[in-house]
Amino acid sequence: MAEPKRVLLAACADLPLGDGDEDILLPALAEAGCKAEWIVWDDPDAPIADADLVILRATWDYSRRREEFLRWCESVPMLRNPAPVARWNTDKRYLAELSDAGLATVPTEVVPPGSVPEWPSGEFVVKPSVGAGSRGARRFAAGDVAGAREHLAGLHADGRTALVQPYQADVDANGETACVFLAGHYSHAFVKGPMLSGAAMDDSGLFVAEKVHAARPAADVVAFAERAMDAATSLLRLRRDELLYARIDVVRGSDGVPMLLELELTEPSLGLSLAGDAAAVRFAAAVRELLAG
Ligand SMILES: Nc1ncnc2c1ncn2[C@@H]1O[C@H](COP(=O)(O)OP(=O)(O)O)[C@@H](O)[C@H]1O
Ligand SMILES: [Mg+2]
Repeated sequence: MAEPKRVLLAACADLPLGDGDEDILLPALAEAGCKAEWIVWDDPDAPIADADLVILRATWDYSRRREEFLRWCESVPMLRNPAPVARWNTDKRYLAELSDAGLATVPTEVVPPGSVPEWPSGEFVVKPSVGAGSRGARRFAAGDVAGAREHLAGLHADGRTALVQPYQADVDANGETACVFLAGHYSHAFVKGPMLSGAAMDDSGLFVAEKVHAARPAADVVAFAERAMDAATSLLRLRRDELLYARIDVVRGSDGVPMLLELELTEPSLGLSLAGDAAAVRFAAAVRELLAG
């Protein structure tokens, strides 16, 4: 029998075994002939050199030391998704690029330190352009410019660029639909409830606790997610199958038309445990194909 391929799933020190999303992936990878184990990305003793593949899965503590994280990504010989994808995708300014490329996105004003936004007229959100797990994202009532200025000043004082967006009421009504693609093919979806409605932090302090459930999205939502995949891979100059995984978070605007809230190509929760064994088997098959190369 062939030697098993060595696959490392990268997590962070506070959640060294991820958030449970991969529990059904590990047996599927074993079935596919891979010996998979977790590592902590900034652990200098992690056996990267012996690995055939390292997969970014739960590296959720990078947002305050993004450059260090990206340098680590660049140092890993076989990383998925690859380091240039992580560099592009860990700063939500990519939303403006995708919008310029013609993809419908939640209207986004990028507000670097030293600049002042045009405040949206209705309810709105101020959040860091580099961030994950809803940390630093805050929702403001229409006209609460004083509160928003204070939050913005705090982000700017830390040297962080902010994004200002109108609050999408569809998130309260229907949540956001996360469409998951594996090796470029649509696999499954799940719905995440609203995060900026006073929900508490997870015990790890790395993300706001999420309410998620499996879902079968409407055809126009999946069709939109397909277009988002095309737009992103075209900007990145990659083939779709070069992205081992992708998650496209979709909301509907007030006119009902799907648009992009977030495109997660770095370390998204993929809802594998919600989707069931078939999705984990598809992920493992994509890994096996990649390693057969
Ligand atoms: N413009 C918005 N309208 C409605 N909800 C939003 C908006 N921006 C962010 N949110 C809420 O905040 C959460 C976190 O924001 P998001 O942009 O997804 O960043 P991240 O998940 O990387 O922290 C979302 O899941 C959503 O519930
Ligand atoms: Mg999100």
